[in-house]
Amino acid sequence: MGSIVVERAVLSGEVEISGAKNSALPLLAAALLTEEEIVLHKVPVLSDVETMIDILRTTGKKVIFEKETNTIRISGPILHTHVPYDLVRKMRASFNVLGPIAALMGEASTPLPGGCAIGVRPVDFHIDGLKRIGFEVNYDHGEILAKRGTKLEEVTVYLPFPSVGATEHVMSAAAILPGITIIENAAMEPEIVDLQDLLNKMGAKISGAGTSKIVIEGVKKLHGCEHTVIPDRIEAGTYAIALLVTGGEGLLKNVNPSHLDALWFVLEKTGAIIKKGSDFVEVKSWNRWKACDVNVLPYPGFPTDLQPQIIVYLSLADGTSTVTENVFKTRFAHVGELVRMGADMRIMENTVFINGVNKLQGTTVMGTDLRATAALVVAGLAAEGTTEVTQVEHIFRGYENVVNKFERLGAKIKYIPGGVPEI
Ligand code: EPZ
Repeated sequence: MGSIVVERAVLSGEVEISGAKNSALPLLAAALLTEEEIVLHKVPVLSDVETMIDILRTTGKKVIFEKETNTIRISGPILHTHVPYDLVRKMRASFNVLGPIAALMGEASTPLPGGCAIGVRPVDFHIDGLKRIGFEVNYDHGEILAKRGTKLEEVTVYLPFPSVGATEHVMSAAAILPGITIIENAAMEPEIVDLQDLLNKMGAKISGAGTSKIVIEGVKKLHGCEHTVIPDRIEAGTYAIALLVTGGEGLLKNVNPSHLDALWFVLEKTGAIIKKGSDFVEVKSWNRWKACDVNVLPYPGFPTDLQPQIIVYLSLADGTSTVTENVFKTRFAHVGELVRMGADMRIMENTVFINGVNKLQGTTVMGTDLRATAALVVAGLAAEGTTEVTQVEHIFRGYENVVNKFERLGAKIKYIPGGVPEI
């Protein structure tokens, strides 16, 4: 695995935000529900998107990814209903193709996804949801087999936790199953609304996305359409924090500011200056920012995917902050690496207690997952001296053109494939 090496820099300028990874992935899974052509615009060129494309091609779908225009065209019938282990192992979101394939073809099988650095990542809510809408689900040596069965005319799927993936999985499968499906305690993320918009453009009858109750009236057949992926709110939040934590200022373009209200609330509370436009946000740091307590929650709460990044920002704040993680309670692999950079923080159960310090010191740190690796690069930009982030390929899963985008903001940043040669 390679490294990114960064120097201390005050960032400034403009950054164009890409389409949302966490919207593109469920939209690609939903494209399985019709043989007609689905055209998706503003699809980010990311390794996770490439993995999902590989999965669609494994099922027999024709997929053309015009990377220079960020456009994907998907069409054709499903010919194979099994998804291989090596692809599901690479990206757990691929599990979400199980329901759509089984709903359309009668049956499907995928490996049981594993955990990752941010937690065990079970899929029990997905399985229970599929069973509630009539699927027979069995396990066989690490594989999950789903068979379409008879669905009640009206059924309610109650999610014990507003799981993004489980909400998307049930929504997509139920779209072409007869009768009414109601999802209670549904996730309310903007990516759920984007999925509802695509499915309805395909002829589905879904309402309520963005609230905790989603109603799906099954239709017999879905058709092709065109759709543009919403902006990536997590990428936008990451660059906003990078601009502020280096003491700089900048303009984020292609943003839906309302998708990040919880972040703007925290940043303004610390003293940052935030100006929101229709599709852009200007951020400006102002003196030494103040400490702040953050409670990570499902949307519209503070997003867990910005938790590592806000911890970096608060590690340099004036005062003591706490960050409590209520979504992935052990998502703290980055904390130990930040302490190695001179941060003063400690974990107590699912809360990090942070005493702001005056500076972080550059050193070699290791990336463990997508958002932790992004946070360590941001920390390196704010730290004195040079920082090398190893195992850095995680970041290419979720940040399009990340080295180039940081360079254009004034960062001294270099990607070294295969890591820095041993001296
Ligand atoms: C989605 O993951 C995102 N990934 C994650 O982003 C994001 O952190 C997460 O939602 C929360 O917002 C994609 O959209 C591809 P969940 P997902 O189901 O769907 C528990 C990133 O960095 N749970 O909402 O897997 C689960 O363990 C990634 O871009 C069960 O117990 O998250 C967690 O504690 C990381 N059983 C909580 O629910 C289940 O069946 C929320 O998980 C499902 C989930």
